[in-house]
Parts: sequence; structure tokens; C-alpha cells
Amino acid sequence: MRRLRRTKALRDLVRETELSPRHLVQPLFVVSGEGVREPVESMPGVDRFSINELVAEASELLAVGIEAVILFGIPAAKDETASGAYDDEGVVQLAVRALKEAHPELTVITDVCLCEYTSHGHCGFVRDGEVDNDISVELIAKTAISHAEAGADAVAPSDMMDGRIGAVRFQLDEEGHPQTPIIAYSAKYASAFYGPFREAADSTPEFGDRRGYQMDPANAREALREVELDIEEGADMVMIKPALPYLDVIRGVRDRVEVPIAAYQVSGEYSMLRAAADNGWIDERSAALETLTAIRRAGADVILTYYAKEAAAWLQ
Ligand code: PBG
Repeated sequence: MRRLRRTKALRDLVRETELSPRHLVQPLFVVSGEGVREPVESMPGVDRFSINELVAEASELLAVGIEAVILFGIPAAKDETASGAYDDEGVVQLAVRALKEAHPELTVITDVCLCEYTSHGHCGFVRDGEVDNDISVELIAKTAISHAEAGADAVAPSDMMDGRIGAVRFQLDEEGHPQTPIIAYSAKYASAFYGPFREAADSTPEFGDRRGYQMDPANAREALREVELDIEEGADMVMIKPALPYLDVIRGVRDRVEVPIAAYQVSGEYSMLRAAADNGWIDERSAALETLTAIRRAGADVILTYYAKEAAAWLQ
């Protein structure tokens, strides 16, 4: 077996998995205000940007070959009905307009969820102490429409309510956005690896947890059911999240369906690597590129990762 490993040229020739910037999507946090660029403490190297800073960051991303971003909004105020999520002048809606105006060639995806906008931090509308599925779906669809109206190139519902992909597809078609694709967070697990993100987005649930809507980490077959339902309902791409602890799920989905697959290397996956690197315990560059290669090898077409910008520079 060693004959083909002897030289770099031979290794390059027979490499099975390719990792390039075009596969990577940079998640970005957007806040209201001007000239704001505040570091997220739990995610060293990641900032929250106000809109003008976001536009500047997008230029840097494009310069290294990252052509797609996914936006998360942190509104100035939160309430029970998550009204900031579907406000046409909301932080994400304004950010999408600004980004598309400054960089028409940038692909702007929006995360569609209520958790950053609800006062209690749950991903849906709470009635009698529980997340009500169908009211939440209505609000999610409304949010997706307002993102499409603002000019989003794709919407990505991450709430894990049942039936939301069908509702979002129906509403997009009705409201004149039949061309807007849906990237469904289909198999989103109730994961401890979202911890750092919740600090960044200020979206930790005030009571209870998300296990009533996000998936049990012990289940793999259930992910296939989620994926199949979302495709039936109109998903153009499906997502598995987190990524590295769920490579078997990515592979299982890859072997079963033909649509493109995205995987989300989440905040905790990033922060673990980052913390180990900052302590000098691991070589960040090779470790991060190894995880991204592994996620591609498992079958992901697209990877959402906080390393997108750095990885693109490393890969050049
Ligand atoms: C919103 C959402 C979350 C993440 C992406 N979309 C948080 C959550 O479900 O708690 C997590 C992303 C990350 O950890 O990087 N529902």
C-alpha cells in the first residue's frame, strides 16, 4: 500500500476527497447598531457584526474564495411572539438587503428560527408551557417570506417543528418566491455542542430544553425519516447538525437520498479545536482541515463552519 504514498504528487493523484472553499459556508452573527464588531467570548476568533461591518467582512470572505454565508440575527429586543424574526425592518432583513446591494455575487442564506427573537429562548411559540407546533410553523413561514422578500438566496429553517418545510414551500410559492430554495435543517440533534452559539446569539432557553423538538443523539434511523419527510415536503437540500459526532448519520443519509447534503460544524466543535490550539495542545490548521475533510468524506457536499474564512486561506 505504501507505493502510492511515497510522494506528494502520487498522494495528490489518488486522493479521494476534495476540500475547497467552494464547499464552505461562513456563519455570521449580525447585531443592530453601527461600527460594532464584538468578540464572542465562547468562540475566540468569531465576532458579532453590525451591518456596515458585516458588509466589510463579506468583502474579505469573497477575496479568499468564500462565496456563501448564513446569517443569524441578534435583535435589539425580544418578545413572546418573536416579532423581530418576521419584521421587514428586522436586523436580518436589513442585513440581507445591505449585503446583496454591496455584493450581488455573494450567496446569502438565512437561518430561519425564532429562538434568537423569543423572550424565553425557545425555537417556537410557547403556549401553556409547551412549544406549540402549528402556531410556530406559521411564524416560521412568515419569517422565511420576509427573508425572501429582503433578497435572501436561500432560507434554512432550523426550528425542527413538524411540517414546517411544506408550509414554508407553500407560502414562498404563494407569495411570489417560487425560485427561493429551502435548505432544511432536517436532522438537528439536541446537542451540548450548541453551547457557545447560545452565548453568541443570547438564545439559551429560559426554562426546559430543546429535547421536545430536536433529535435524540442516540437515534440514526429517525434522521432518515426526518430527511425523507423534508424532501417530500419540498426541501432542496438537507442538513445534518452537528457534523463530526454524526458522521455515521451523514453517511447514512448520503447512501439513501440524491439531494445535496449540508453538514454544520457547530460552535462547540469549533471552540473545542480553538481552545486546544490556543493552549498549544493541537495544531489548529491541520486538525481543522482534517475535520472538514472527514465531514466531506462522510458524504457532505456543503459544510457550514466557523473555520470557513481561515480554511479558505489555508487551502490557497
Ligand atoms: C437556531 C440555531 C442554533 C444553531 C443554529 N441554529 C441553536 C440551537 O438550536 O440552540 C446552533 C449553531 C451552532 O452551535 O453553531 N435554532
